[in-house]
Amino acid sequence: MQAKTPSESRTIMTDLVLPSETNPLNNLFGGELLARMDRCASISARRHSRRIVVTASVNHVAFNRAIPLGSVVTVEANISRAFKTSMEVFIDVWIEDRESGSRTKANEAIYTFVAVDDTGKPVEVPPVKPETGLEEDRYAAALRRKQLSLVLAGKLKPKEATELRALFVED
Ligand SMILES: CC(C)(COP(=O)(O)OP(=O)(O)OC[C@H]1O[C@@H](n2cnc3c(N)ncnc32)[C@H](O)[C@@H]1OP(=O)(O)O)[C@@H](O)C(=O)NCCC(=O)NCCS
Repeated sequence: MQAKTPSESRTIMTDLVLPSETNPLNNLFGGELLARMDRCASISARRHSRRIVVTASVNHVAFNRAIPLGSVVTVEANISRAFKTSMEVFIDVWIEDRESGSRTKANEAIYTFVAVDDTGKPVEVPPVKPETGLEEDRYAAALRRKQLSLVLAGKLKPKEATELRALFVED
């Protein structure tokens, strides 16, 4: 299968924070942001694989900064690395200053999607060809994150997670 670049799967969704989507502090409710990120990531995974995709795992979410009511929120996703049937999706969340229009990074997350056929059976996806320095860094670390996710899910024995283990072994 021919490799695709992360820019080919880039997906950008911009929307407002409305009162029904906030917590008692008038900030965006965490579950609402998770849903927005899941939607954006699933479109990105579909663009990369051109298949039906399902969320296999939410590997990492950092709610670094509260997002106030009325904010303009942009969720940006692309595929950082593809394995055989699974894809790691990197998601960056930005908020926009009303007066200057400048963007501030608010949150980030990493999801894993799997491409499936009509019966839900996993199918192969194209590899990823990173282009920028950031894309190369994310690509390089993706295998360790996949191994960590599989270990936490009880699908891989820690002793088999060789790239992950190498992080903790001193030279
Ligand atoms: C995701 C799903 C298709 C995986 O099916 P499976 O029978 O476990 O298939 P496999 O073991 O062959 O795994 C398929 C791929 O997913 C990866 N995977 C499975 N669980 C994973 C996890 N927790 N973290 C990271 N990757 C995972 C496997 O490593 C494999 O990747 P690879 O082919 O690129 O090496 C299946 O569990 C499923 O359909 N889950 C429900 C999905 C869903 O409904 N999501 C919406 C949430 S409500």
